[in-house]
Amino acid sequence: MTTVQARFPDRRPEELFVPEVATITRAENLTEQDRMFEIELPGGKDLGHKPGQFVEVSILGFGEAPISVTSSPAKKGSFELCVRRLGALTGKMHTLGAGDAVGIRGPLGNGFPMEDFQGADCLIVAGGIGMAPLRSLVTTILAERERYGRMMLLYGNRTPSDILFREELEEWGRAEGGQVLVTIDTPAEGWEGNVGVVTTLFEQIELDRSRRMVAAVVGPPVMYRFVYAELTALHIPDDHIYFSLERRMKCGLGKCGNCQIEGKYVCIDGPVFTGEELGRFHESI
Ligand SMILES: Cc1cc2nc3c(=O)[nH]c(=O)nc-3n(C[C@H](O)[C@H](O)[C@H](O)COP(=O)(O)OP(=O)(O)OC[C@H]3O[C@@H](n4cnc5c(N)ncnc54)[C@H](O)[C@@H]3O)c2cc1C
Ligand code: FES
Repeated sequence: MTTVQARFPDRRPEELFVPEVATITRAENLTEQDRMFEIELPGGKDLGHKPGQFVEVSILGFGEAPISVTSSPAKKGSFELCVRRLGALTGKMHTLGAGDAVGIRGPLGNGFPMEDFQGADCLIVAGGIGMAPLRSLVTTILAERERYGRMMLLYGNRTPSDILFREELEEWGRAEGGQVLVTIDTPAEGWEGNVGVVTTLFEQIELDRSRRMVAAVVGPPVMYRFVYAELTALHIPDDHIYFSLERRMKCGLGKCGNCQIEGKYVCIDGPVFTGEELGRFHESI
């Protein structure tokens, strides 16, 4: 089990346990249920996150919740969160706009090991709001084309109106070495794209089997078992397949035990785990 000191050797305890008062500089609705926020820390200092890390967002009287950072680490001076309205904290966040304040602790968690993605073709599989953390990964890969191989994104949603980052998806698909495939679960009026769950997109990927491949997956737990089977069929080794897990969290720092799963704390040992580790969690997912 990882400790706070081992995960964040360069950070003082108060930086991790005490929220900083940050300011929302921009907010816009992306869909009926998802709102995007640009947030600035005091003095415009960088959050200094890795793709796949999250922050704990707090509002006095409404609680605290883990939310993934959706912007690329290359964005300086502010960062972005995409928040789906669910309950107390996320519901309150949907009423906030530019100039409002929120508490921020983080970045927390391990994030994706970018060194493993370097030099490899990257297969990224997103389901629903799972696109939020993966946007940070995709934009990191596309910002430094020379470091990474191809970027293939498979993205599944329930309905067309749930699709996030529509314009960016088109941009990423047009980028050098980029391929973006989007699907919705069931037929919908006006939708001419792929229909079926995200695994139905695998047969459309343009693969170069001579190249090393690495995969990242974020979405609803029900998706993981099926996506894992597809990735294994592509001969991507277990230790190069990364899944981000979602669990109810409180402290985000391996102290409260709320997020524990098979002897690991999802908040600090994860939220990103390899396929190898996921195999051991299988009954808990
Ligand atoms: C590492 C991590 C990253 C996340 N990233 C994002 C993100 O980028 N964007 C985003 O919108 N959300 C994200 N989430 C989910 C987000 O943390 C929850 O939606 C949030 O905690 C809900 O808080 P609330 O106070 O609004 O809801 P509450 O009032 O606490 O709960 C409302 C209802 O939702 C249920 N619920 C709350 N949280 C969860 C959960 N995690 N799983 C299942 N049911 C739940 C409760 O049981 C209750 O029924 C992330 C979660 C984790 C663990
Ligand atoms: S949220 Fe407290 S131990 Fe993980």
